[in-house]
Amino acid sequence: MIGLFDRLALPFLGLIDAENAHRLAIQALKLMPRGSSATDDARLSVRVFGLNFPNPVGIAAGFDKHGEVPDALLGLGFGFVEVGTVTPLPQPGNPRPRLFRLPADEGVINRLGFNSEGGQAVLARLAARAGAGGLVGVNVGANKDSADRIADYVSLIETFAPVASYFTVNISSPNTPGLRELQRGQLFDELLARVVDARERASRRAGLTPLLIKIAPDVSLNELDDIVGDARRRRVDGMIVGNTTIRRPRTLREAKTAQETGGLSGKPLFTLATRMLAETFVRVEGQFPLVGVGGIDSGSAALAKVRAGANLLQVYSALVFRGLGLVGEIKEALLAALERREARSLADLVGLDAADITAQSWPE
Ligand SMILES: Cc1cc2nc3c(=O)[nH]c(=O)nc-3n(C[C@H](O)[C@H](O)[C@H](O)COP(=O)(O)O)c2cc1C
Repeated sequence: MIGLFDRLALPFLGLIDAENAHRLAIQALKLMPRGSSATDDARLSVRVFGLNFPNPVGIAAGFDKHGEVPDALLGLGFGFVEVGTVTPLPQPGNPRPRLFRLPADEGVINRLGFNSEGGQAVLARLAARAGAGGLVGVNVGANKDSADRIADYVSLIETFAPVASYFTVNISSPNTPGLRELQRGQLFDELLARVVDARERASRRAGLTPLLIKIAPDVSLNELDDIVGDARRRRVDGMIVGNTTIRRPRTLREAKTAQETGGLSGKPLFTLATRMLAETFVRVEGQFPLVGVGGIDSGSAALAKVRAGANLLQVYSALVFRGLGLVGEIKEALLAALERREARSLADLVGLDAADITAQSWPE
């Protein structure tokens, strides 16, 4: 089924406007017959922040922004799905075109700007599948015109606590002006205090929902010191490293498209995102697990992310170029590493290369 979809749909989807192609992919997933995926090999299971992941390969935020197809995605073999970013009120995002492929680089640039159907629409969908099982996290964000952005995160945590397997507080999108300021100094600490408090209050109704912070790969190492210090002190459950980058590596071949404003993802992001993951890992000192995301496009790239410090992985852009078969390929590569006896379990592989990576010269 997946192989057939990839062979038929990928060449066609590659020809049409990127945002229309994404919409078509969502529609196709809605129509897909609902079968549960084959059970994963037990050696792929990961237990972190109190949740049992059948395998560590998730689909990153931004693919299913409105919670339309989480069960179809779980059925394709993802170990978890992150819905969103959801904003409290519906908002259209930036004018189109706002999504661009860089085929020669296997990269994507987006400046969608949190187009969201809003909290109530997404809540209704997730509530309708509440008994279906599978891990579905909710990635929350702030409305562009909000007077109190932190209050937006708080209200979404209250709204979604009964249906979210975990929360991701997304303060790292480059496409909402000023949003990334929430990663800095006093504002970051205030954000953490208020979202952790909202999560505690909601837990009286819904049980304690793990809370993750998603950061940009563009923060400085000094800023990362503070972010990790505050996250440890405020006892967040994990961090996702990371979002898209506003940098443009000199090596990009699609020079014209590379000038588009927005966040770059996919293969050209891999080295920077993996470096930031390792830098985060050595600062966290095992206090909480990390989700590695950015440029994973193969089994070996996934393995490198784990060795840099990731307990869990997420993919997005490479699905555009490599298709859904990537999920199975990654799972096979992780199992093959265990069979080669690189480690007894996936957990034993996590962070093995982090110190070496942080000793290298800074990636371009
Ligand atoms: C089209 C597109 C939309 C995205 N939307 C979101 C979003 O709404 N929220 C978010 O936290 N990340 C979003 N991201 C970032 C991804 O979740 C991920 O962090 C990033 O793309 C790096 O992973 P990749 O290289 O595997 O794509 C988006 C990425 C793309 C390509």
